[in-house]
Amino acid sequence: MEQYPQFYSLSERRYSCRGYSDKSVPRDLIVAVFDAMRLAPSACNRQPWKFLVIDTPELCQAIRKSYDREWFNSAPVYVVALGLHDEAWHRPYDGKDHTDVDVSIAVEHFCLAASTLGLGTCWVCNFDPAVLNEALSLPEGVEPIAIIPLGYPIDGSQIPEKKRKSLDEIVKWGKY
Ligand SMILES: Cc1cc2nc3c(=O)[nH]c(=O)nc-3n(C[C@H](O)[C@H](O)[C@H](O)COP(=O)(O)O)c2cc1C
Repeated sequence: MEQYPQFYSLSERRYSCRGYSDKSVPRDLIVAVFDAMRLAPSACNRQPWKFLVIDTPELCQAIRKSYDREWFNSAPVYVVALGLHDEAWHRPYDGKDHTDVDVSIAVEHFCLAASTLGLGTCWVCNFDPAVLNEALSLPEGVEPIAIIPLGYPIDGSQIPEKKRKSLDEIVKWGKY
C-alpha cells in the first residue's frame, strides 16, 4: 500500500512459521523483541501479562508435550504468554475481563517485531492447558494464553499466500 509501505510490507511478511532451523537465537535479540512488545497498549494501561522464555532442553521438552506436532518440536525457543486475570481491567458495566484482549495485542507486537529481525513465530493456542500449567507451575489466576515458538525459519522457507476475506466482506460504513 503506497500510503504506508513499511507497515504494509511488515504485515505481509509476518506469517505463521511452522519449521525452524536449529540455529540458536541470541538472547539480546529476544530482549530487543520484548522491548518493542512492551510498548503495546492495554486496557487502562494495566499490562496484565508476563512472558516466560523457555530455551533449556528440559523445559522445551515439557512444553512440546502440551502441543504434539512435528513442526512445533523444531523451535529452539518458546515464549509462553501469560494473562494475569487479577491485574486486568474488567469493564464495570458487565465485568468483561480484558486479559485476553491485552495479551493478544502484546503477542502480535511480539510477532511483528520478531519478523523485522528475520525471526519466525507462530501463534499457538491449541495446546493442552493442564499439561502446560503443570510443566510451568503456574499459580491460580495466571492463564497461559498463547505459546509462541521462536526461531530462524528453516532454509528455503517461503511466505505463504495470505488467504483473507476481502475488504468488502469485513468493512462496512455505517450500521450493521
Ligand atoms: C489466536 C490464534 C491461535 C492460533 N493457534 C494456532 C495453533 O494452535 N496452531 C497453529 O498451527 N496455528 C495457530 N494459529 C495460526 C493461524 O492458523 C494463522 O495465523 C492463520 O491461518 C493465518 O495464517 P498466517 O499467520 O500465516 O498469516 C493461531 C492464530 C491465532 C491468531
